[in-house]
Amino acid sequence: MDQSFIQAYDKGLKKIDYMKRTLTGFPHITKNAQWLINQNGHWTGGFWTGQLWLDALETGDEDLKKEAKQWAMRLKCRMDDCTTHDQGFIFGPSCVLGYRITKDPEFLPLIHAGAENMLRQYVPETGLIQAWADSGYEGISIVDTVMNLPILWISGERLDDPIRKEICVGVARNIQKYAVRKDYSTYHVVKWDTEFRISGDTHQGYSAESCWSRGQAWALYGFANLYRYTGMEEFFDTAVRLAEYYWGHLNEDKLPAWDFTFQNNQEMPIDASAASIAASGMALIAELFYIKNNKEAADLWGSRADAILYAETEKCLYKDLERYGLIEHAVVDYPHGSGIDESAEYGDYYYMEGLYRRKYKDVWRVQKLLY
Ligand code: GLY
Repeated sequence: MDQSFIQAYDKGLKKIDYMKRTLTGFPHITKNAQWLINQNGHWTGGFWTGQLWLDALETGDEDLKKEAKQWAMRLKCRMDDCTTHDQGFIFGPSCVLGYRITKDPEFLPLIHAGAENMLRQYVPETGLIQAWADSGYEGISIVDTVMNLPILWISGERLDDPIRKEICVGVARNIQKYAVRKDYSTYHVVKWDTEFRISGDTHQGYSAESCWSRGQAWALYGFANLYRYTGMEEFFDTAVRLAEYYWGHLNEDKLPAWDFTFQNNQEMPIDASAASIAASGMALIAELFYIKNNKEAADLWGSRADAILYAETEKCLYKDLERYGLIEHAVVDYPHGSGIDESAEYGDYYYMEGLYRRKYKDVWRVQKLLY
């Protein structure tokens, strides 16, 4: 195990411990270096719970497992929430991870509710899942949805329900068809009109035709994870090509501009949360190449994940327990002026998850517990 990752992981656990003692609700993003919190978990509550599970896995602390379960159970208030596609984010690192660690059946209804909520937002005319129910966002799906689809597969496997699994695969294929461009960059948004004519666009990226770096990170991780669940080679092939695009468009220091249009433009902020997601996604790709007996590719993607994690550890890991989250220099939504050069709960979670994958890579080659 790499010593610098062990130290970084321990430093991360200290921040989680501090947050656990001081937070009164789920942390979402920071504003002026302080967490904005909410009581229902927004779309990021699963990540905070997931961080507690990673902590419990490291320490084996039974009290911490109880605390992680209490946070996960607070997400019961989302079991009937059909206003967002973010069901995998909400119920994955919280309840799927919690169930796999504890085998406690109390997690199962939340997992199935998340899948049910995805089904209720499925738009059969397009074969896609509506992203948000808010007015003004009609007819929109986003590339990030690939991260949420495994909740459908997991629920389908447990209930022996082929429909959930078919919709998971069908939506993944359609995101692949409509959001992934020929050069393996991605559209953030796939939208349709009243006659279901489909086109690409953006919501959080610079422009319709640009490549929003966090969307690319969600896509590379999401398709690799979909391969892990479905065994479908087309998803793995797409994941690797998306990861190649991401790697080829990084700034010189291996951190991404918030949109790849601004590669190496020092006047534009980086998005460290994209770095966290991409690092853990590349570590997953390395794990998958390893079980495919391709050690050379496994080593290549492992070394790329490590390079990103080193860069983040050096430039983005917190300096002060009381300010920001664990990872600084994230951009939440540049075009709408939200969370610029702040922390975001997903940036924190995936940094720890990426370190966890690489820290234990020689012990458990494939991290089966993770969502
Ligand atoms: N839609 C999730 C994100 O902002 O990355």
